Parts: sequence; C-alpha cells; structure tokens
Amino acid sequence: MEVTETFAGIALPGHLHTQESLGFAAAFTFRPSDVLIATYPKSGTTWMQEILTLLFSLGDARPAKTIPNWERAPWLEQIYCREALRDAETPRLLTTHLPAHVLAPALQRSKAKVIYVARNPKDVAVSFYHFHHLAKFLPDPSSFDAFLTQFLEGTVHYGSWFDHVKGWLGQRHLLDILYVTYEELHQDLRGTAQRLSDFLGCPLAPGTLAALEQHCSFSAMRDNAMANYSLIPAEIMDHSQGRFMRKGVVGDWRSHFSPEQNALFNRRYQEEMGDTELPSQWPMA
Ligand code: A3P
Repeated sequence: MEVTETFAGIALPGHLHTQESLGFAAAFTFRPSDVLIATYPKSGTTWMQEILTLLFSLGDARPAKTIPNWERAPWLEQIYCREALRDAETPRLLTTHLPAHVLAPALQRSKAKVIYVARNPKDVAVSFYHFHHLAKFLPDPSSFDAFLTQFLEGTVHYGSWFDHVKGWLGQRHLLDILYVTYEELHQDLRGTAQRLSDFLGCPLAPGTLAALEQHCSFSAMRDNAMANYSLIPAEIMDHSQGRFMRKGVVGDWRSHFSPEQNALFNRRYQEEMGDTELPSQWPMA
C-alpha cells in the first residue's frame, strides 16, 4: 500500500521518506569536498552515480561491482541511506531528488559541488510512467494519458518537472554547479566524463575512460546487481512488472505520445520554459 509524505509542497513516497529524514536533508551540513548529484527522477541519476563512482575510483570497477549504488552515492533525504551517509568516505558522493529551494541555503553556505542531470521531459514522463508499475512506493498509474496529465500539472510524486529544473537552473550563479544532460551522456560519454573530471578537479588516470565506457554502458549496468536495483525486495519493487534498467534510449516518447498529447506537452513546455535561459546543450532547447 503506497503512502505519501508531503514536504516543501510536494508529494514524496512515504516508504522512502519521513518528515524526520526530509528535515535531516534540509538541515544537512555539506563539506567543501562533497559532490551532490541532483536530479528529477528518471533523468539519469543511476547512470551519473555509476560514472562518478568510476571517476572517483580512477577506473577501478570493484566498488561499482560490490557496493550498491545507494551506498556509494546515498540519498540525503531517504530513510535507508542514513548509515551510508554516516560512513561515507571523503570525498562524499551524495544524491538528491529534492527541489533546489530546500537544499540551496545549505549548499550556498558550503563549497560543495553540484552536478544537475536533466533529460528531455517527454522521455522522463515515459520512463516515470513505466517505473510506477514496478515501484510499489508510487501510486498505481491508470492510463498513460492520465499519468501525463498529472505529470504536466506537477501533481505526480516529486512534484513538477518544470519547477525542479527551473529551481536548479536558478542556482547557476549561486552554486558551484555543472549541468549535464542524459542526451549528451548518450552522444558523447567520453567527452562528458572529461567535462566532469575537469569540473571536479579529479584527474583522469590512464585507462579510466575505457573502464568507464565499459562499466557504465546500458548493458553492463543492466547486468550489474549493484546498479540495477534487482536487490530491492519485491514488496518495494515488483520486478515481475518491468526492469529499472528498462530501455535506456533517447526519444522513446515517440512510441508513446499521440499527436494530441505531443501538442499539449509542447504548449505546456513553452508556457513553463519559454522565458527560461537554458544551457546550449539542453534537451528541447
Ligand atoms: P528508461 O526507463 O527510459 O529506460 P534514474 O536513474 O534517474 O531513475 O533514471 C533511470 C533511467 O535511466 C531509465 O530510463 C534507465 O534505463 C536509464 N539508464 C540508466 N543507466 C543507463 C545507461 N547506462 N545508459 C542509458 N540509460 C540508462
């Protein structure tokens, strides 16, 4: 049975969060060496966790193969990550789905680095819809059309994609933040890894890029139990309903959206994002 927590005006899965765990995240003390991955769900969070694990380990795949991703890059706000947060080594790799306005004050007081990953919201909506079928902590989706309406209204769990993205884009002059898109990871994984390494001041050891390319491919991650969520018990993720590592492609929305849904989405996107200054590589920019 799905349970909801409301925090900072958005609905979040109660199985993963409590008011206490959310308050803990909002009051988090960042260290200057912290690296925070911030995303709206289904935007490439797990992929970025894997890439940064490989960058930090200088290409050694053992941590990625032996430690679950939620321990390597724990979520600030989730109940079950508290132990991993306490034990994390420096530099800490952290993850969040929270909106910028919750974390920005603490981040602005720190020198922590933030990597914001965004994905074409049409593909996010499709991926999120499918994820609702296996994630028992999310409401059962009815039709794709009904889900898309809720997604565009921002009434899905984790709130509005538009608000999330605009909130984190609004921090571009206030935080040490790098914007990366799911699409550019697809297009040029090596180049993006190089950009990440420059941003983090984390030199690339010989062989790191080749190791990263191998271990962060869709097929390698789909088969890695430490990255594909197959370790999560069936009462939390019903693996008979689909895979977390589902398709991993760009543009899957084309096989889901009707022309009417696409027109509605484009209108809404324009209303919400029309005046927003977007990085040049932004999807749908
Ligand atoms: P799909 O459902 O479209 O397949 P998150 O980690 O933010 O929840 O995002 C999950 C999405 O990222 C899923 O999208 C998943 O398949 C995709 N993904 C994860 N690792 C990937 C990889 N190495 N290459 C391509 N896509 C990946």
